[in-house]
Amino acid sequence: MFISSIQIENLRGIKKGEIKGLDKVNILLGPNGAGKSTILEAIYLISAWARRIDDLRGVNKENYVVSRRTGRGNWSTARKILWHNMDTEKEIRICITTNDRLLDFIIPYYLPFVDFKSQSAVFIRMPKEILKKTSSNWLPRVYIASTLSIYDPTLKMYKGSLSEELRLLFNKFYNNIIKALEKTIFIDSMFLRNPKLLEERLWSKLLAKRLDKEIIRMIREGYEPHAEDLTYAPLYPNMYTLFLKLPHTSISIDVLGDGARNAIGLTAPLLLAKDTIVLLEDPEIHQHPGGIGVLMRFILNMVKKNNIQLIMSTQSIEYVRITLRLCKDLSISAKTFYIERENGELHVRMLKELDVDTLMKLGIDPRFLGAF
Ligand SMILES: Nc1ncnc2c1ncn2[C@@H]1O[C@H](COP(=O)(O)OP(=O)(O)O)[C@@H](O)[C@H]1O
Ligand SMILES: [Mg+2]
Repeated sequence: MFISSIQIENLRGIKKGEIKGLDKVNILLGPNGAGKSTILEAIYLISAWARRIDDLRGVNKENYVVSRRTGRGNWSTARKILWHNMDTEKEIRICITTNDRLLDFIIPYYLPFVDFKSQSAVFIRMPKEILKKTSSNWLPRVYIASTLSIYDPTLKMYKGSLSEELRLLFNKFYNNIIKALEKTIFIDSMFLRNPKLLEERLWSKLLAKRLDKEIIRMIREGYEPHAEDLTYAPLYPNMYTLFLKLPHTSISIDVLGDGARNAIGLTAPLLLAKDTIVLLEDPEIHQHPGGIGVLMRFILNMVKKNNIQLIMSTQSIEYVRITLRLCKDLSISAKTFYIERENGELHVRMLKELDVDTLMKLGIDPRFLGAF
């Protein structure tokens, strides 16, 4: 497990919010507009400090966060939509804790010269523990850019770069969590709608380890019992797609059922993820309950095997029940957080498995708790 709590300020609909007690598997449940996706985006955004490029998509993470919901805009043209009520005077602040570290990130709207080709828009606060170890006369409020330049947000000025000695201390201090953030994966509906990313960026890596066999096994179990193989072949000249081979024909991924196509898109990146945080946005979309069971069993096995912390959003109580039951079967500790938002403030309640089940037995859908 990597992240144990997260605090967010001034990001999209969240003026202020905190989730404590995160577990290995975390389900964020709540009504539309509660801020579930924003929480996933917050973690994705801070991962840009550790690694700017999103390897799954081949784009800068900052640009992707701005455009991913509609495909419009990028960081330099439209980033103000990320600031709560577009109040760009304030900084976006995202603070995470691990079991023994606190990482305090900010994203200022205005920055003096920054070469965004090489530097992330996200800064991390210099930890007190390191400040104490230096004889330098440090300002108490300095932040470190992804290039390891030192930035003072009060004066809006850069103050040189970290010395070699401090660099080493800094890297050592944050090593584990930065490594996990570097490899963080965000699987959202925009990714699932674009199988080209999977085909061009992941498929050869999966083939190299013959992990395609795992995917086929899952497809057979949950979607197409007679599926034989997946292959990348031309649909017409210069246009290749993945095909699912069946006994008497092959079906291009473009016309495969939505549930099966999404299942391939959800599981392929997970097969390659290791020692990291995986963010899943509404994975239940297009899934029949039987499909959810097979898909989640597969995903949770990866979580266990590959040392992954899973944080996912959902609107489906059925999905929560199936996932919690599977976690129990597989001895994975999981938590459900019920999230609401009022005047920009997050209200978070932890639901135990029993709570969910009891509520269901009473015929109460926890998503509508407010109505009772
Ligand atoms: N810049 C912003 N300022 C204020 N509210 C915003 C901003 N951006 C988005 N919102 C609101 O934040 C809410 C939370 O969105 P989201 O995280 O997508 O919720 P969920 O995933 O739970 O449905 C939406 O209802 C949206 O209207
Ligand atoms: Mg959402």
